[in-house]
Amino acid sequence: MSNDPSNSDATHRTHPTRRASPHSTVARDLAWVLVVTVAAAACGALLDVSERAYRWTRGVERFQLDELPGTLCVLSVGLAWFAWRRYREARGELNRRRVLEEQAERLLAENRRLANQALQAQEFERRHLARELHDELGQYLNAIALDAARIRDLSAAREPEIHRVSLGLIQSASHVYRQIGGMIRRLRPIGLDEFGLPSALEHCVDGWRERLPEASFSLTIEGDFTGLSDALTITLYRLVQEGLTNVSKFASGSRVEVFMVRAPRERRPGQEDEVIDEIVVTMADDGPGADLAKPRGGLGLIGMRERVEALGGEFHVASKPDGGFLFCARVPAQAGLADEPEPVN
Ligand SMILES: Nc1ncnc2c1ncn2[C@@H]1O[C@H](COP(=O)(O)OP(=O)(O)O)[C@@H](O)[C@H]1O
Ligand SMILES: [Mg+2]
Repeated sequence: MSNDPSNSDATHRTHPTRRASPHSTVARDLAWVLVVTVAAAACGALLDVSERAYRWTRGVERFQLDELPGTLCVLSVGLAWFAWRRYREARGELNRRRVLEEQAERLLAENRRLANQALQAQEFERRHLARELHDELGQYLNAIALDAARIRDLSAAREPEIHRVSLGLIQSASHVYRQIGGMIRRLRPIGLDEFGLPSALEHCVDGWRERLPEASFSLTIEGDFTGLSDALTITLYRLVQEGLTNVSKFASGSRVEVFMVRAPRERRPGQEDEVIDEIVVTMADDGPGADLAKPRGGLGLIGMRERVEALGGEFHVASKPDGGFLFCARVPAQAGLADEPEPVN
């Protein structure tokens, strides 16, 4: 958790007003070159440097050292030309990189938007399916169970065979009813639409308390969770749901702590005036943990990360063998509101 990219971002971000423009640096450097040249010419005139050099080089003329000043002059012009070419090249490269970075940023944003849309479509379809199962199949199953109960009552004294069949029918109907109930709950969490996210999560955790009596669960929720987009609400629910499913699979006897907090986001330099809330979900258990350096199967954690990143958030996992398991997701509270589909009538 220590190498939080948001922190490193903040450290490396330079305030735009403090960055000197390349043009002003060029002008300043050229001015320095001119000042140093004029100073050198003045010193040369004061100290008769050429005359001294001439007197000195005349003695070693056989080595052609008297040609040195001219040669050095050509060399310095050549070096200046070389430096200028490299400078132009570096600027061109910088511009190309900037264009590519902007392109990558745009593609990333588009990718996030599409992933978000895909998840929303999936949730929409799940909700639709849950409603269909409840309204259509549920009603008919209920009718079948009621009819079977009536047959059971009518045949009780006269038709033992029909009575037995009707009992089987009632049993099958209630089995299918329970199965469909489970499917509906998985497709669309109970209470999420009616009572909101905190109640739905409490209900979900209560379910696990019953199913895993050897584990202990604590759920802490702080802040206001109304007004979130449906995409964010369902994402937060699915994070906890998958995290608790993982606890049941890999850390069934452990102590599990779930936190969901809405808090003002850490402000970055240059964004002091912007007040943005973020939702932070953390789940930690003290179970056997996992070696994160080893390749892992499964799609749960990948799906969690994808959901969070599609909403412009960050997802981190921390664990070590015998050291428990922890995940933390941070998502901007207004995530997904802009992409909210128009209500369907
Ligand atoms: N709470 C946990 N405790 C220990 N290991 C875990 C926990 N949650 C996840 N893991 C490890 O991470 C792996 C990936 O989890 P996940 O992506 O949910 O896949 P799956 O649940 O299908 O195995 C698991 O196989 C397990 O090794
Ligand atoms: Mg899993």
